[in-house]
Amino acid sequence: MKRLTEFDELTDPTFSQAVIDWQRAHGRHDLPWQNTVDAYRVWLSEIMLQQTQVAAVLGYYTRFLERFPTLADLACAPIDDVMAHWSGLGYYTRARNLHACAKRVMEQYGGVFPSDPALLAELPGIGRSTAAAISAFSSGTRAAILDGNVKRVFARVFGVDEYPGEKRVEEALWRRADALLPEQGIEAYTQGLMDMGATLCTRSKPDCARCPLQARCVAYASGRTAELPVRKPKKASPEKRARMLVVIDGGEVLLQQRAGSGIWGGLLSLPEVDGHVAFEQAGEDIEQVDRAAAAFGEVEEMQALLPLVHVFTHYKLHIVPYKVALVRRGKTPAGYVWVRLDDIADAALPAPIKKLLTGLTQPGLFP
Ligand code: ADE
Ligand code: SF4
Repeated sequence: MKRLTEFDELTDPTFSQAVIDWQRAHGRHDLPWQNTVDAYRVWLSEIMLQQTQVAAVLGYYTRFLERFPTLADLACAPIDDVMAHWSGLGYYTRARNLHACAKRVMEQYGGVFPSDPALLAELPGIGRSTAAAISAFSSGTRAAILDGNVKRVFARVFGVDEYPGEKRVEEALWRRADALLPEQGIEAYTQGLMDMGATLCTRSKPDCARCPLQARCVAYASGRTAELPVRKPKKASPEKRARMLVVIDGGEVLLQQRAGSGIWGGLLSLPEVDGHVAFEQAGEDIEQVDRAAAAFGEVEEMQALLPLVHVFTHYKLHIVPYKVALVRRGKTPAGYVWVRLDDIADAALPAPIKKLLTGLTQPGLFP
């Protein structure tokens, strides 16, 4: 009796057959790295295609092979020469890894790429998906790919409504990918998935009318091709708190010239008690506020005003203002200026601070 494995429920030979039939009829067959089982050529093409589209790779691939016709040629070439032939393709770590990988295969494997994808995946620049592609194309090994394009196809076909970059979701997709592998025709299947991702199931406006998986595609059936795959969830922006002094004396308010770099750099703002502090670390010590105020003169009275919230791109700031009335002004410290409340509208202030101060100058709100 056949023993059921954990993933048998996910196997479905009609899935791979649909991809294979489509690839044979409509996929790409004349790319220069196709119709070869030379692992060196297959490997080179897969590395070049990792973050670059086919059209951009074509010329580089040809020129690269003219200069480095064999793995041995590449391994013994100076790195500068390798970089020069990669120049313009981008993501230069790929070129450095390529060179390191060539040397490793020469030393460790006598110049012959291993066919086992697990061994390939230990080499520099070769991840699990690239290892599977090289192994499938050069030695017909049944191994699953799962690059960005394939993730998109799977997320749509299976209606995966969680972010596929998340480890747990990605692991589930790998299990699907493994379970869906065909018994025969791994090359056409692998190429078919790649071609579908690049030409039919594109990020925007997929060509579902021509898609061999349309009849089983959850995203298509539910009109969610634009929503799937789910985009990376935005991190909740951290919250910070800034206690600020509104020191008022004789119709003037004390402002601080903020340093040229950093938040509000180059602008005037209210003096701060303890900076923009992460909410979890923000103390409530009112004595700190007293001491900060005392630096500007003899304090007559202090009054907490209503906090306001300002949203930056990277955090949310709760501004907690304290109105301070002085009996007598002290020496104004360097970097601080007194500005007439009447002139606030024209001062170089951050918008929330200007709003706070103009609110204070409304008739009846401040003596
Ligand atoms: N993208 C990654 N590998 C590819 C290949 N072998 N053919 C076309 N596009 C690809
Ligand atoms: Fe992608 Fe459309 Fe095909 Fe679904 S039907 S896999 S969305 S191209």
